[in-house]
Amino acid sequence: MFTFLRNPSLLFIIVSLPVPVVTDNLALLVIDVQNCFLPTGTLPVTEGDLVIPIINEIRQNYDNLFSLVVFSQDWHCDDHISFASQHNGKNPYDTTVLHYNSTGNLCESTCDAQYNITQVLWPDHCIKNTADAKFASNITRKISDVVVQKGYHCKIDSYSAFFDNGEFSQTELNTKLKEKNVDTVIIVGLALDYCVYYTAKDAKKLGYKVYVVQDATRAVANATSIDALHDMKERGVHIVQSSQMPDLMEKLTSSGNIPQCFHLIWYIAAFVISRRLAFF
Ligand SMILES: *[C@@H]1O[C@H](CO)[C@@H](O)[C@H](O)[C@H]1NC(C)=O
Ligand SMILES: *[C@@H]1O[C@H](CO)[C@@H](O)[C@H](O)[C@H]1NC(C)=O
Ligand SMILES: *[C@@H]1O[C@H](CO)[C@@H](O)[C@H](O)[C@H]1NC(C)=O
Ligand SMILES: *[C@@H]1O[C@H](CO)[C@@H](O)[C@H](O)[C@H]1NC(C)=O
Ligand SMILES: [Zn+2]
Repeated sequence: MFTFLRNPSLLFIIVSLPVPVVTDNLALLVIDVQNCFLPTGTLPVTEGDLVIPIINEIRQNYDNLFSLVVFSQDWHCDDHISFASQHNGKNPYDTTVLHYNSTGNLCESTCDAQYNITQVLWPDHCIKNTADAKFASNITRKISDVVVQKGYHCKIDSYSAFFDNGEFSQTELNTKLKEKNVDTVIIVGLALDYCVYYTAKDAKKLGYKVYVVQDATRAVANATSIDALHDMKERGVHIVQSSQMPDLMEKLTSSGNIPQCFHLIWYIAAFVISRRLAFF
């Protein structure tokens, strides 16, 4: 009945079919693509809207290769500490130093300042439950996408989608990625020199392989984006362009990921096994 099993070539094909494929487990992190950061929003990023078609195309081409797609959302109290309007005599884009005590509470009057954090003061932006804080209407979103809000503590800012700027608390992002065994994150969105940069740094610190698709981001300012790009590269964050996505996704998700010599060894082993089985 199983006489076909005596044919070594047939056996070879059967045995060698399940070539082990080691693939990266990918997540796409879409950072803060919200109305507030588009050119018509309250904290406009120049050309911020131009990231939308690029991110939509990445999803159209590769959605089935992502274990998880996450949208982060800047989500502030209306009197958030990062707003220039909350600091007497300050204008948007000025900076100030915020002092926090050892338990991460803002020092409002006298207190033992353990953490001194330089804060850029922004126009009032992305106030929770407003139209301004909504995701861009024309960015592709799916029911399976995960939304991670950040910046909802009124007294501390949060550029990164993982931790607030004092690293006093963390969002659920790392847990969500771990649940899906993600080991590699591809980051896109706004703005390159703040929230994309801090998210990439934290992802790297947490042990992920990190890719930032540069043309799927825009920056608040040139000078800060040059520094951010330099620092990310130094930390081992890969900066790529969307035109490199076909090659990158092939490399990360196919057998191109394991050395060719391993393939060869596997096929030789399969050949030997199939010859031996054929002699039963
Ligand atoms: C998406 O909508 C924003 C405004 O909400 C607009 O500025 C932008 O051009 C639109 N982009 C696309 C690709 O439709
Ligand atoms: C930090 O500040 C908070 C709020 O003012 C206060 O309740 C807390 O006791 C302070 N912690 C320390 C260690 O001083
Ligand atoms: C933070 O700033 C305060 C006030 O300027 C200073 O007294 C304190 O030593 C600083 N703390 C640290 C850890 O740098
Ligand atoms: C930023 O740099 C680009 C190219 O390097 C240049 O075209 C643009 O004018 C610069 N923008 C600002 C605000 O300096
Ligand atoms: Zn913000």
